[in-house]
Amino acid sequence: MDLFEYQARDMFERHGVPVLGGIVATTPDEARAAAEQLLPAEGGVVVVKAQVKTGGRGKAGGVKLARSADEAAEKAAEILGMDIKGHTVHRVMIAAGAKIATEYYFSVLLDRAERRYLAMASVEGGMEIEQLAVERPEALARVAVDPVVGIDAAKAAEIVAAAGFGDDVKDKVGDVIQKLWTVYEAEDATLVEVNPLVLTEDGEVVALDGKVSLDENAGFRHADHAELEDAAAADPLEARAKAKDLNYVKLDGEVGVIGNGAGLVMSTLDVVAYAGEAHGGVKPANFLDIGGGASAEVMAAGLDIILSDPQVKSVFVNVFGGITACDAVANGIVAALGMLGDEASKPLVVRLDGNNVLEGRAILAEAAHPLVTLADTMDGGADEAARLAHAAA
Ligand SMILES: Nc1ncnc2c1ncn2[C@@H]1O[C@H](COP(=O)(O)OP(=O)(O)OP(=O)(O)O)[C@@H](O)[C@H]1O
Ligand SMILES: [Mg+2]
Repeated sequence: MDLFEYQARDMFERHGVPVLGGIVATTPDEARAAAEQLLPAEGGVVVVKAQVKTGGRGKAGGVKLARSADEAAEKAAEILGMDIKGHTVHRVMIAAGAKIATEYYFSVLLDRAERRYLAMASVEGGMEIEQLAVERPEALARVAVDPVVGIDAAKAAEIVAAAGFGDDVKDKVGDVIQKLWTVYEAEDATLVEVNPLVLTEDGEVVALDGKVSLDENAGFRHADHAELEDAAAADPLEARAKAKDLNYVKLDGEVGVIGNGAGLVMSTLDVVAYAGEAHGGVKPANFLDIGGGASAEVMAAGLDIILSDPQVKSVFVNVFGGITACDAVANGIVAALGMLGDEASKPLVVRLDGNNVLEGRAILAEAAHPLVTLADTMDGGADEAARLAHAAA
C-alpha cells in the first residue's frame, strides 16, 4: 500500500524525522485556514501540494508557492480537481515553506533480487531520480543494507560517504538517514523515499517530500495501517471481496474467472485470454482464487461478486480437486446458484478435474442448471466461456 505524501509526513514526524508543518485541505477555504496557521507572522511562503499517488507533481503544476492565505486558497482552487497522470486531486497539503540551500535524495527499499535492502543517496536531489540514474549513474550511490543489521551509525556513515556529502553536513544527514531507517523497519515498509531531502539556509536537514510503501503482509502487526487506506480510490468490487476475505483482483475483460489455487487461476487467465483471441478478443474479467476449501458460502460469495460486475458476460469456474474434492465443489456450485437465485443470470462454464471428479460431474449433470455448461478440459472450458462472452457482448 502506497501512502499519500501527507501520511508519509505524519509518519516521519512520529519517528523523529525532521519535517515542516503540513496540513491537509480538501477545499480552498480549508487551504486558507491552513495557510493562516502556517505562515510566519513576519511573512514568508507556504507551498500548496497536490496529494496524488504518482510522481512528477511539480512538473504537472501540482506544487505551487503562495505568499498569503488568500493566495493559498487561490492555488488550492487551481490544483483541486486537477488531473495528474490519471489521478484526480481530491486533497492538497499546505506545507510550511522551506528556505532551500541544497536538495538531496535518499531512499531505502526492498531489493528482492539481492534478498536484502538497498539504500540510495545523492547530493543531486530534486530532479527526477530515474533520469539521474540513467544520465549520471555515478552521482547516485547505491549501498546494500543487511536486513539483520539495518542502517546503524556505521552504515549511515558509509552511505553518506558513498554519496559524497561534505564534512559540514554528513553527520546531520547520517542522523536523518538513521531515523528514516527507523520508519522503514518499525512500519514494515518496502520503500521510504525522500526527494528532496533538503539542507535549509539555517543549516537544518529536512524531509520536504515523502513516499512510503507499506508491506500489506505485515498489516496484522499494525492496527493503525488500515486507516491509511484510501477507501475512496479502492475498486468497489475489490472492497466487497476484501470484506469477504476473497483473493479478488478486478481486470478489464468480459470472462469472469473462479479457480482454486493462485497458480491455477493465473494460468486460467492466460488460457482465457488466448481463447478470447478467436472470439472477438474477449479477456478475463478478474482474478479470483477461492482457495482450498471451496465451500458453498465461499463459492456463492465469489460468484456474487463476479456476477455483479456489469462487464462480465460469462464465467469460467476452473477447479482442480485436491484436498477439497470435486463433489464438494460441485455441491458448492449448486448451492451457490440456489442462494443467488435470479441474481445468477450469466452463463457458467464449469471444468472440474482431480479428486472425485466423476462424482462432481454427476452432481452438476443431475442438477442440470440451465446456466451451467460442463467442460472436460481447461482449454475447452476457456474456449466455451470466451465464445459465450462474445455472443452476449
Ligand atoms: N515545503 C516546501 N518549501 C519549499 N519548497 C518546496 C517545498 N516542498 C516542495 N518544494 C519544492 O518543490 C519541488 C517539488 O516538490 P516535491 O518533491 O514535493 O514534488 P515532486 O517532486 O514534483 O513530486 P514527486 O516527488 O511526487 O515527483 C521540490 O524539489 C522543492 O524544490
Ligand atoms: Mg519529490
